[in-house]
Amino acid sequence: MNDAKSIDQSTKWDANLYLKFADHRTRPALDLMSRLDPANAARPGHAIYDLGCGAGNISRVLADRFAGAPIVGIDSSEDMLAKARAQTTDPRITFAKGDLAAFKPDRPPGILYSNAAYQWLDGHIDMFPGLMRLLPSGGQLAIQMPRNHEAPSHAQMKTAAEAGPWRDKLAKVRPIARVQEPADYYDVLKPLSAELEVWETIYQQPLTGKDPVAQYTSSTGLRPYLELLQEPERSAFYETYAGLTAKAYPTRADGITIFPFRRLFIVARRA
Ligand SMILES: C[S@@+](CC[C@H](N)C(=O)[O-])C[C@H]1O[C@@H](n2cnc3c(N)ncnc32)[C@H](O)[C@@H]1O
Repeated sequence: MNDAKSIDQSTKWDANLYLKFADHRTRPALDLMSRLDPANAARPGHAIYDLGCGAGNISRVLADRFAGAPIVGIDSSEDMLAKARAQTTDPRITFAKGDLAAFKPDRPPGILYSNAAYQWLDGHIDMFPGLMRLLPSGGQLAIQMPRNHEAPSHAQMKTAAEAGPWRDKLAKVRPIARVQEPADYYDVLKPLSAELEVWETIYQQPLTGKDPVAQYTSSTGLRPYLELLQEPERSAFYETYAGLTAKAYPTRADGITIFPFRRLFIVARRA
């Protein structure tokens, strides 16, 4: 299996915080999965890879949905992989540490599936043709990435980062790699595809509780900022960001905060 020594930021994933919003994060994963062809899961000797599998929640759903297929989850975070291994005894599901930037499958893939992971990799669009070439004719590449970077939830991370004495420390944060326009992905994958679907969905996520948007992003996009600060600055920065998001995403009369979230989906079938 490939080596993930070069990765440091994703070793710090907080599996528990990420899973707090599991319902909202599972729905796009299922929407993506609904476009997979069971015939690809049934190819003898081929596996379904769950790239950036995190705590393995979706790997387990893949195993339920595609009976008989071996499922291989790949992730660079020990915390996520430990959680993933602890949550299943199904021998069909295995997990391995690996860097998606250097992904090489140990066994042939019939399906390469990835939910909410490639947005962490700079230049991910250039990796997608290589993933397609790993597939047999008819095999599928299925990728979902958040594309919410222009929404206040993400723009305000930068605003908050520049709004306090932490400014210099946070100037070096490398935000999530920009997810490009849908048509850009269409253009790179079309020459290798027999069928290609690219679409976006904006989920109107109803959240509850205090600082729900800040809580939601603190296990993902906000994480690189929080990691650079110590207390009490860390909390002060978080409160600044939470205050900004509270204004942008007001709580409704019934206590619900609606957090619209745009996601990009790609499903390509290898020519
Ligand atoms: C937002 S989580 C998604 C987890 C899972 N796919 C899900 O939908 O529940 C993103 C995952 O990508 C992993 N990741 C980020 N960069 C990676 C890389 N270069 N190689 C492997 N995994 C990576 C992180 O460790 C994290 O578990």
